[in-house]
Amino acid sequence: MVVPYTHEPFTDFTVEENRRKMEDALKKIEAEFGKEYPLIIGGERITTEDKIKVVNPANKEEVLGFVSKSNKELADKAMEVADETFKTWRKSDPNFRADILFRAAAIVRRRKFEFSAHLVKEGGKPWKEADADTAEAIDFLEYYGRQMLKIKDGVEVNSRPIEHNQFHYIPLGVGLVISPWNFLFAIMAGTTTAAMVTGNTVLLKPASATPIIAYKLMEVLEEAGMPKGVVNYIPGPGSEVGDYLVEHPRTRFVSFTGSREVGTRIFERAAVVQEGQIWLKRTIIEMGGKDTIVVDNEADLELAAESIVQSAFGFSGQKCSACSRAVIHEDVYDQVKNRVIELTNELTHGDPTDNHNFMGPVIDQAAYDKIMGYIEIGKEEGKLVAGGEGDDSKGWFIKPTVFADVDPKARIMQEEIFGPVVALTKAKDFDEAIEIANNTEYGLTGAVITNNREHLEQARVDFHVGNLYFNRGCTAAIVGYQPFGGFNMSGTDSKAGGPDYLIQHMQGKTTSEML
Ligand code: NAD
Ligand code: ALA
Repeated sequence: MVVPYTHEPFTDFTVEENRRKMEDALKKIEAEFGKEYPLIIGGERITTEDKIKVVNPANKEEVLGFVSKSNKELADKAMEVADETFKTWRKSDPNFRADILFRAAAIVRRRKFEFSAHLVKEGGKPWKEADADTAEAIDFLEYYGRQMLKIKDGVEVNSRPIEHNQFHYIPLGVGLVISPWNFLFAIMAGTTTAAMVTGNTVLLKPASATPIIAYKLMEVLEEAGMPKGVVNYIPGPGSEVGDYLVEHPRTRFVSFTGSREVGTRIFERAAVVQEGQIWLKRTIIEMGGKDTIVVDNEADLELAAESIVQSAFGFSGQKCSACSRAVIHEDVYDQVKNRVIELTNELTHGDPTDNHNFMGPVIDQAAYDKIMGYIEIGKEEGKLVAGGEGDDSKGWFIKPTVFADVDPKARIMQEEIFGPVVALTKAKDFDEAIEIANNTEYGLTGAVITNNREHLEQARVDFHVGNLYFNRGCTAAIVGYQPFGGFNMSGTDSKAGGPDYLIQHMQGKTTSEML
């Protein structure tokens, strides 16, 4: 009997012992810097000439490792192995598969500080954010293991006296899992293990900025008893390996999390039926956001300002759920704006190895250039009231930045910046605030800060986002508590960490026997 699921508690770093454990872990992982990481196909370690150099975004000189890059030939080899392994894995006992996830969760939990320390270095995450990422990875393993046990015996359907009808979910085939760098552990581990616990075999292509943590997950799954060839680790350029495998006729489904640009490209390419392909590919595609916090005139204004600042600048705004727009009732606009500026200016910023820093770097040069470009656009479109500066001499650092008095149709109000930039705008009443909140092509998260019950109920119906929060910030969904996924151009709303997630990796089979 498996104990009921509860989410992994977060680490309290005000406790001296926890602080010391994290400092020790940060020192310990330095011994691994500069290591080489091979591909893993059918359990075999394969080293290639061509490598991805992985650096610490807070210190470009610190090279964390060199990861072998796959290519089309190796992608083909991985596909052959995954296809062959599917013949046996699809028939494996779901209890056995779930046990691998439970064991993997236990292994990660035992080495929690070490994994979080690695995320500080590979992802540039402050301690608190790294700890939350590790906790979320554990949650996905525990939750999806239990969900598999819930659905393994199928769903009850009716039978007449002359027959016995059954309805079961069976796996799909080889799944291509393509993950982003921002929740480098949690989303990568969640999407991979959801695909595998449901009886599919997997080709795992992690983001090129953060491939080492995915290698570490492979080691954990192997230690937990996963047979060879079930998950195959094939990092490499999205444009080469990604495109090739998305189009491959043996790919049965694609599970992608990342940008709107790449997500829509995958959606289109996966829809084309290739020669020799005998199915329509399933796509689970989760993309970006332009997430809004609405502040009403009857509201706790301190809570409003804190929610905006925490949601906008946690992990440097590099969350799909981050608040990048705040729509504030005109009666309280100046008050909230001034408090947002004060709180933003109080934020500590620097190398996340030092736990005193609330905010660290952004992930790489491309992100730095893109965000600084948007800050220039913002200067034209609104009033810069905090931050606005960057420094890429050692790592990629950008100050938390606030623009005020921005038109709702402005580019910085419409386009995903994916950095520490928030734009504030004024609404004449609550109706207009919701209208502005809905006026982007995305629909991922949103929050409403109000003490007016009618307005909460209005938002419940009219604020069109996949994850809507009342009187809190718009980030930090928890697996099994707040299933996560967005509407419109935020994706297919697959709701990671929710009760319907696993069956999207499966197909329903009806069996009817005459008695
Ligand atoms: P990205 O789209 O640049 O990359 C995501 C993955 O796609 C990477 O592994 C990348 O190598 C791969 N890729 C790139 N080109 C490809 C191609 N042509 N074919 C196949 N794969 C390809 O996104 P990113 O910068 O890693 O992540 C940030 C984005 O992810 C943001 O837009 C953010 O909002 C989004 N995101 C969404 C969610 C969600 O649940 N909705 C969660 C996290 C991040
Ligand atoms: N779980 C992450 C959040 O809600 C994506 O911020």
